[in-house]
Amino acid sequence: MKSIASAPGKIILFGEHFVVHGTKAILAAINKRVTVTTTFTDNKTIKINSELGTIEIPMTIKDGEPKMNEDKDENGNVIFKGSSHEEVKSEFRPFVFLANRLMTNSDNVWHPGNFHFFDHCLGLEITIDSDIPIGVGLGSSSACCVAATASIFGLFKELSSEEILKISIGAEKTIFPDTSGADCTVCTYGGMIEHPNIEKIDSAFDLNLLIANSMIPHSTKNSVEKVSKFKENNEERFSQLCDLENGLIDEVITAMKNNDATTFGLKMSENQKYLEEIQVSNETINGMISSLKEISLGTKITGAGDGGCVIALVKDENVNKVPALLGKDKECFSAKIDTKGVVWSKIEE
Ligand code: MEV
Repeated sequence: MKSIASAPGKIILFGEHFVVHGTKAILAAINKRVTVTTTFTDNKTIKINSELGTIEIPMTIKDGEPKMNEDKDENGNVIFKGSSHEEVKSEFRPFVFLANRLMTNSDNVWHPGNFHFFDHCLGLEITIDSDIPIGVGLGSSSACCVAATASIFGLFKELSSEEILKISIGAEKTIFPDTSGADCTVCTYGGMIEHPNIEKIDSAFDLNLLIANSMIPHSTKNSVEKVSKFKENNEERFSQLCDLENGLIDEVITAMKNNDATTFGLKMSENQKYLEEIQVSNETINGMISSLKEISLGTKITGAGDGGCVIALVKDENVNKVPALLGKDKECFSAKIDTKGVVWSKIEE
């Protein structure tokens, strides 16, 4: 049997970074997806295939139950040893985490005692196919965690959205412990949502959003740590910025209800100023934003910043001017909002 799940990437329209410190945020799922396919094997291994490479991790059996060769590093973080006893690369950790959760029923998805992995199979093979660019703020890792949760557990049971979200946030924490959970939420539910209420938002106007990739990869974990340092050193200002961000998001919701794209765009640019103040923008990003200024209603970083992507609200008649303004070394494309969120199916073979 094959269990197949796909989940969309995402953009953050408002509130990145501040959301980690408790503010609201507005996110949208986009029409680029990760697909994860999981099958049973007889190999007593967990095999993971992705564009980043293939690893195969042997399982040991303890008290008749499967266990992966799990270990702790010097900081007490769980690491997994590969077949050649190398540390599993961080990109693979969510999948190993999920396979382990499945086998040990740590999330109580099954009534205790009702599930024995070896009654069904000896191992798993997990394959990841993605059309979301990696490491540029478009939710590639959260979409992977969401799709992998639905796919791996889906071999045995179709999970509810709530279960997928809870388990996938745990998986994401293996690479990024401080995640706000906002990215996994929108990848699970799709559409445009206000975090943390998971409230779906309908925009009265057509959001013609353009995504431009600076082609500078970033580490969300490092950017989030940098912002936490900024907060430590500028407590009062950071708290003001959080209040400003919450106020801005309320104004954005009203602007959307009033079909007011101009205010929506202005708020994007205002949000960008807050992101510049907490130092997650850089010269390349600022250069891209000023190149797009004359044709966009608003432009800002989306996601962690320090590289990655910017989003611009561009009028239809100006869309084809964008590539020339940005230059050949940048990638850009129009984003359509995905409304489906995570999708799961199984194929009996
Ligand atoms: C990353 O896409 C968004 C951040 O706000 C981190 C998070 O919310 O977990 C930077």
